[in-house]
Amino acid sequence: MSDNITVIKPLEGPMHGSTRVPGDKSISHRAVLFSAMAEGTSRVSGVLDSADVRSSIGAVRALGAQVSLEKQADGSLAGGITGWGAAGPSQPAEPVDCGNSGTTVRLLMGILAPWDIQVTLTGDSSLCKRPMRRITAPLMKMGARFLPEGRETLPITVHGGGLRPLTYDAPMASAQLKTAVLLAGMYASGTTTVNEPAPSRNHTELMLPEYGVATTAGACTASVTGPAQPQAGEVLVPGDPSSAAFLACAAVLRPESSIQIEDVSLNTARIGFVRTLERMGAQVSVAHTGAAGKEPYGIIEACYTPDLRGCEVPADKIAGIIDEIPVLALVAAHAHGITVFRQVGELRVKETDRLAAIMDGLAKLGVDTWCEGDDLYIEGQPGLQVPEGLEFDSLGDHRLAMTWSLVGLTGKVPANIKDFEAVCVSYPGFLDDIERLAR
Ligand code: S3P
Repeated sequence: MSDNITVIKPLEGPMHGSTRVPGDKSISHRAVLFSAMAEGTSRVSGVLDSADVRSSIGAVRALGAQVSLEKQADGSLAGGITGWGAAGPSQPAEPVDCGNSGTTVRLLMGILAPWDIQVTLTGDSSLCKRPMRRITAPLMKMGARFLPEGRETLPITVHGGGLRPLTYDAPMASAQLKTAVLLAGMYASGTTTVNEPAPSRNHTELMLPEYGVATTAGACTASVTGPAQPQAGEVLVPGDPSSAAFLACAAVLRPESSIQIEDVSLNTARIGFVRTLERMGAQVSVAHTGAAGKEPYGIIEACYTPDLRGCEVPADKIAGIIDEIPVLALVAAHAHGITVFRQVGELRVKETDRLAAIMDGLAKLGVDTWCEGDDLYIEGQPGLQVPEGLEFDSLGDHRLAMTWSLVGLTGKVPANIKDFEAVCVSYPGFLDDIERLAR
């Protein structure tokens, strides 16, 4: 057996009862980054304490924001962040290391673009392979420069200053791209608009008004009018639906399970996985209980479903489930018939090539998968029997680590996961939380 293997054993019993999941990763990044840009001291709570969010915290500290967040009893971070405000970020002495976090580096490119400083952005070996041209291209149209010229990947140095507004038709639905352009647009005189081919998550549009910056948004378009300096705000981060998805899918697969996940974001741009599970015939439902600012939250309920069926997920719904496709693919492997995820090419440029990883992992389970162009097909096997001693490689990708751990947790024999600790990127307490639900 190779090094650094975690043996994930079957859950002790069915999953039952209520739980909460850590704060939403996308909203936590934005709370940290927007507070750092703001004038004055913002109050944030429910912030996810994970490696990715710590990358954003480290980056804004290096750029001159004062962050005093403290660990709370529930494991979240809460406290004050004093931003650099209208004075702008300070010139850091060293390159800013964004770790594994695509959201940190891509949003920072937009944040730094308006300012007359030169900041080198870098990251770990995974982040240094991910495409950055999608962000630098529109920002260059606005007047920013990125060196070395023509470079597609990190490290990249941002040379900011003197931006003009832009109307941009994005080539792909990406909240990171949309957000980077809007954040830069706040410091250009006039209206900056991003049009997308399909709706992506809208946390930026919903959160900027909490910092006194008006946004206008439609299903596939968002605008901001500059100059607009954000002012200190207050943000309460609800639970992360992308983390909840692993618990919900586990409950759907583990016989006799029935769980509720409380205080989780029910933003419609994020709970596409619930709609996909419903279309597979899974017993899942949501109930709204409140709102944090403009972000709705509530309860996701999920129960064991023995008779899942395959379904087709159209291209315009993919951005809404992009982070959940690996675990939905595992559920599809247990369903009767074929599931098709249309136009999932974006999976190739996530923390790893998740399209190849899904196909490799399901092949180990003896499940047939194939691609036609960018469409992913999975031929489910109801009653799928998992052989003993299977080993899955997380490839250092948090969502793959959790997806393949479900093979062991919800099955009858253990599964071996290489580099399982990648879960620390988004959900450090995942194994404890899921095992607690089964005691
Ligand atoms: C995110 C947007 C998505 C998502 C990522 C977080 C965000 O990426 O996959 O995990 O917080 O804006 P893209 O914008 O590249 O689709």
